[in-house]
Amino acid sequence: MEPIVIKGGNRLTGRLRVQGSKNATLPLLAAALLIDGVTTLTNCPDITDVSGMLKLLSQFGCRIVRCQHTVTIDARNVYYCEPDAGIAGAMRASSLLLAVSLARFHQAALPMPGGCTIGKRPLDGHMEALRQMGAHITAGERNVFAEASCLAGCVLEPMLQSVGITEQLILAAVCAKGVTTIKKCAREPEIFSLCQFLQAAGADILYLDDEIMICGGATLHDVCFEVPGDRIIAASYLCMGLSVGCDMTLYGIETNQLTWILSYAKKMQCHLEIEQEHVHIRADKQIEHIPYLETAVYPGFPTDLQSVVCAMLATADGTSVVVETIFENRLQAAKELGKFGADVRVDEENRSVTIVGRKHLNGAVVAAKELRGGVALILAGLRAEGETTVYGCEYIVRGHESIVEDLRSLGAQIAWMR
Ligand code: UD1
Repeated sequence: MEPIVIKGGNRLTGRLRVQGSKNATLPLLAAALLIDGVTTLTNCPDITDVSGMLKLLSQFGCRIVRCQHTVTIDARNVYYCEPDAGIAGAMRASSLLLAVSLARFHQAALPMPGGCTIGKRPLDGHMEALRQMGAHITAGERNVFAEASCLAGCVLEPMLQSVGITEQLILAAVCAKGVTTIKKCAREPEIFSLCQFLQAAGADILYLDDEIMICGGATLHDVCFEVPGDRIIAASYLCMGLSVGCDMTLYGIETNQLTWILSYAKKMQCHLEIEQEHVHIRADKQIEHIPYLETAVYPGFPTDLQSVVCAMLATADGTSVVVETIFENRLQAAKELGKFGADVRVDEENRSVTIVGRKHLNGAVVAAKELRGGVALILAGLRAEGETTVYGCEYIVRGHESIVEDLRSLGAQIAWMR
């Protein structure tokens, strides 16, 4: 894919609607296969991971109509299939088809899911919990095979607080016999929207603070649901605005999902007007360093924002230490920041990064190795003096439908190199 070219230095000004969330959409698409009816999703982002998931659904016989940001999935005449390894293997969310295929067809054959190379990302916790629900699962190096004549509700406490495991179990439990309680579940907003979607389709779900109770077996029916705005993209654009200066409004986003970045912006004493679905920010100050920051499950500092925040802190007024606690290999972008002249040191274990803020960055030729890391390099390019070229943009378009157009509409000098 062609690289993105940026000439740094421009403030971001204007209004921007934030696209629908990738991580919310993908579980909803998997859930659509559970419904013997028609699912309509609005505000569905036009990104490659969504196209891939739709292709997988069509292999199961779903009839799909996509018109701009509205997608309908008719899953009335579906049949069992083994999803294409090339497509399923390219994204993590394909793992959710395990529970869905088991629930709808009593069997599943799934190529090992892929996604961004940010860590090992095994499926052991998914399989362990599904086994407790009665599934027989065998896992090879490349595939997982599962069968279950009937999934049975039970009390589950997954081996770790994982977004994917929680989503997998919700999908299994809505079709299981009896009541399932998922204890110590993850509480990311995308999990809440999956529950809201399934409730709108007729599922019986009680969403408590750190546990979810599901009474399985309800008949699921046609449903229309609006995908929420992408909180990670909104937060990334706020980081960019803080870094280069801004006078901008982001809308189409639940601002109560932006707690971390908005409280940081408040600490920096930026001018903020926060409403339920939009935020106006005016920022012209130097970035304040953060002495110690570590990624955590929601509502903590999101791992998906870590690389972008590292890029932002590269021009802070002092030294920051950022620790990645969720994934083992998520500091690749931090290493690449050195090419902009940033003073960034990654520790030997690849878990923490020390960033000594510098006033200036210079343009560089860099390569994204994963989605969010690619966005971090764009932030550095916007802030740097001179020209930056970002390769590896195929990762960025997995989650961003129009990052170049968005930033250009806010006044950045950024373009695809044709
Ligand atoms: C989801 C998001 C991803 C985000 C992450 C954490 C999607 C498509 N992706 O990924 O953008 O960064 O949540 O917020 O929604 N783990 C195991 N065994 C398992 C499952 C997970 O060891 O069976 C580990 C993972 O390797 C990782 C940690 O648990 O180290 C957290 O992963 P998890 O919360 O499951 O993230 P994902 O659902 O993969």
